[in-house]
Amino acid sequence: MSTSQADDNLIPQFARRGEATRASRHVIPQQESLPGTAKQIIDDETMLDGNSRLNLATFVSTWMDDDAKQVYEASFDKNMIDKDEYPQTAAIEDNCWRMIANLWNAPDASQSIGTSTIGSSEACMLGGLAFKRRWQQARRAAGKDTAKPNLVMSSAVQVCWEKFCNYFDVEPRFVPITEEHKTLDGYDLEKYIDENTIGVVAIMGVTYTGMYEPVAAIAKALDDIQAKTGFDVPIHVDGASGGMIAPFLQPDLVWDFRLERVHSISTSGHKYGLVFPGLGWVVWRESQWLPEDLIFQVSYLGGEMPTLALNFSRPGAQVLLQYYMFLRLGFEGYRAVQQESQDVAKFLSAGIAKLDAFELWNDGSDIPVFAWRLKEGHTSNWNLYHLQDRLRMKGWLVPAYPMPDDLTDLTVQRIVVRNGLSMDLAEELLEGIETETAYLDALESPMPVEAQRPAFHH
Ligand SMILES: Cc1ncc(COP(=O)(O)O)c(C=O)c1O
Repeated sequence: MSTSQADDNLIPQFARRGEATRASRHVIPQQESLPGTAKQIIDDETMLDGNSRLNLATFVSTWMDDDAKQVYEASFDKNMIDKDEYPQTAAIEDNCWRMIANLWNAPDASQSIGTSTIGSSEACMLGGLAFKRRWQQARRAAGKDTAKPNLVMSSAVQVCWEKFCNYFDVEPRFVPITEEHKTLDGYDLEKYIDENTIGVVAIMGVTYTGMYEPVAAIAKALDDIQAKTGFDVPIHVDGASGGMIAPFLQPDLVWDFRLERVHSISTSGHKYGLVFPGLGWVVWRESQWLPEDLIFQVSYLGGEMPTLALNFSRPGAQVLLQYYMFLRLGFEGYRAVQQESQDVAKFLSAGIAKLDAFELWNDGSDIPVFAWRLKEGHTSNWNLYHLQDRLRMKGWLVPAYPMPDDLTDLTVQRIVVRNGLSMDLAEELLEGIETETAYLDALESPMPVEAQRPAFHH
């Protein structure tokens, strides 16, 4: 160590270069700094971030146990794509998606195919790409035009589907949600389907509200359409959240590979798969639904290993964490964790329903997520954005936002209950909501509404 570094070490922490001056923002600093100084600057700046455990806007895991953290620490240097260097991690990835294929009732998981991804967005895009490629191949074989593929889905889809359509030149056909049809449910579906429809997206756990779309009813509507028109339209289930809830909490609900029309399902390992971000999974019911020309070969143990991904390098640690969670919790453990989250969601939704000001949109009995609105005519002095801001002052992030088409005039507020929001914390939150609602109700004049904005984007 040079003399000047030794001297730097002696200077009190907050009087050191970098701490005593403003840290460099947009240009890499000219000089080195001590590791302790660099770390302290980052610790201090991120201290101003919200507390992730109090963020009830996100679906993403914010808590794992200490053993999981050790698994993570021991493996965060592993690159998932390096299958030759890390054959065991590659084998564990395979174990995981096969476990998931079985969980989703694949008739014969040895005939299924799947992969891990960075999250549901990438998994959904791979599902969409398989639809598009299969449709193109069939059309070309029949000598038909392939210029105008379209994908049919609810107006309440997550933004990843809009991205898919934008990036991969597919026309999005949105079926608007309404008060009568709160989700895509098969109603009017024939108006949106034609020979250029590559598939329909059904969501298990709509991002805006947490509701399940009735996949079996959508499949039945598509059966009827096929009987009338001959169009054989497959379903991709976006189970970003519900894919890891329904098997445990609603095992009798038929939404998965029990339905032949469901070709593929995706989920986020980092949501109710209970793993830190970023991890997703996509599985095809049978490998025939994943066109082979979308698969690339990488070298693996001197041989070839099929890979399917939009990116190349990415961390392998999350895949190991998923395997850890499957081994650690087993089916019964997952069921218990998800049930606990649902109990907390129902406790909170029941408490909010009791307040005069609000009306529930749903109660958290699908995934442990629910939304509510202000009762019509309750007040013109405040709205849900004001309640969002009051709760933010207490550290809670409980987002308010407008619903999608055809309900854009409706503002709702939503709570996502995740593993880690204990009943004890939920009681605190409910008290906060009661206190802040009473405060707002006691106002004698209207709150300003300028510059109000949603705290969450879909
Ligand atoms: C229904 C749905 N699909 C897809 C996504 C995107 O998931 P990810 O953040 O894992 O990419 C989300 C995220 O909230 C979602 O709720």
